[in-house]
Amino acid sequence: MNLEDAWSQLRRLSVEEREWLREGAVRLLAPLIASDGSLVGMIALGAKKSEAPFTKEDRLLLSAIAASGALTIENRLMRTPQPQVEGERAGASTLAPVAAPSFSDTAAAAECSGCRSVFPAGSGQCQVCGGKLTSAPVPYLLAQKFQMQKRVGSGGMGIVYRATDTKLNRPVALKILPPEFALHHKARARFIREARAASALDHPQIGTIYEIGEWNQQLFIAMAYYEGQTLNERIEKALLPFPEIEKILSGLASGLVFAHAAGIIHRDLKPANVMLTYSGQLKILDFGLAKLVWPEEEGETALTEAGALVGTVAYMSPEQVKHLEVDSRTDLWSLGVIAYEMVTGTSPFHAGTKVATIARILTEQPRPLGQMREGVPPRLRLLVEQLLQKDRAARIRSAGDVLKALA
Ligand SMILES: Nc1ncnc2c1ncn2[C@@H]1O[C@H](COP(=O)(O)OP(=O)(O)OP(=O)(O)O)[C@@H](O)[C@H]1O
Ligand SMILES: [Mg+2]
Repeated sequence: MNLEDAWSQLRRLSVEEREWLREGAVRLLAPLIASDGSLVGMIALGAKKSEAPFTKEDRLLLSAIAASGALTIENRLMRTPQPQVEGERAGASTLAPVAAPSFSDTAAAAECSGCRSVFPAGSGQCQVCGGKLTSAPVPYLLAQKFQMQKRVGSGGMGIVYRATDTKLNRPVALKILPPEFALHHKARARFIREARAASALDHPQIGTIYEIGEWNQQLFIAMAYYEGQTLNERIEKALLPFPEIEKILSGLASGLVFAHAAGIIHRDLKPANVMLTYSGQLKILDFGLAKLVWPEEEGETALTEAGALVGTVAYMSPEQVKHLEVDSRTDLWSLGVIAYEMVTGTSPFHAGTKVATIARILTEQPRPLGQMREGVPPRLRLLVEQLLQKDRAARIRSAGDVLKALA
């Protein structure tokens, strides 16, 4: 261990801290480096009990522990507002961020095929789990400020990464859209228009869109990152109690009231687009974005096969699967499907294939809730019935009426 090595992370420590290390008979040190290059901690080890020297394997293990430690600390720091300490002694606290290193904005980052963590291009091995790295469809530092951390999921409209906005020091979810989106000029214009409209929605139950951008002819959306579980994951875990179901429905309905009043229809409302945060909030994600793949204006090209029937058809309304022009009532149908699934744990129309699912949506009545679960509150049963009317003229009229039914 060489405390004076010019390249050593230890140079960032204060004189007292270095002195402490020298006196503490420390044999092995592992710096905890955050993704922006700042030193957020150190792991210091004394001699082994057996006095045997540290092996290469020990060192590898320690660096893996240090990498996950750094990630954990970073996540914690990002969640905790950092108070500015007045009159902080200059040079006293040296575990402070240093200038973010610059990374190429053109080279594809490296992504772990196991844990999906993202590293700068040219990295050898995953520092979190030791897995094999492959090329990612994004750079490590996107738009000079979004530092990629980890792929958190993918859906019908692209891949989602958790990243840090290094300028504002906040976590973001970056949705990277497939390259087809950039190829169609009209679709691109539509995307920008729709994303702008959706980003204007400011409501506690609606996920915030920060900005949209482009990288390597691929469009991306930066959104607020929500720490929690999707409603999908929640439903899969265990049957929800009725009061919780009603609370979730009210949350969804109040988001819909607001968006519908602003003239924005979700079009892809489903449990995977509902985030239940650890702090107890409900956030509807991807508002209005499905419109991007639903060509309505004459002469526009569908972006995907089968007339742009993307995503999960199981939540689509009869008018939506028939390609009719949709209005806000399509979201009310989807709300009915979500409600049915929360009560029973099963999707009312889902079948083995897309075609079979569509057929069920158009022709079949789902099994009555009363036969599926005991003790369903009558108002909830009635509400689901009113939401799942195939003829939209017969459907409950508005999200506001849903709120009234649950009041
Ligand atoms: N803002 C966000 N904050 C935290 N996690 C998110 C956020 N947006 C998406 N995710 C995660 O990424 C996953 C994939 O999202 P994505 O929107 O790509 O797929 P989807 O919702 O299944 O399908 P669709 O493309 O139809 O919306 C989600 O299930 C969720 O776990
Ligand atoms: Mg989504």
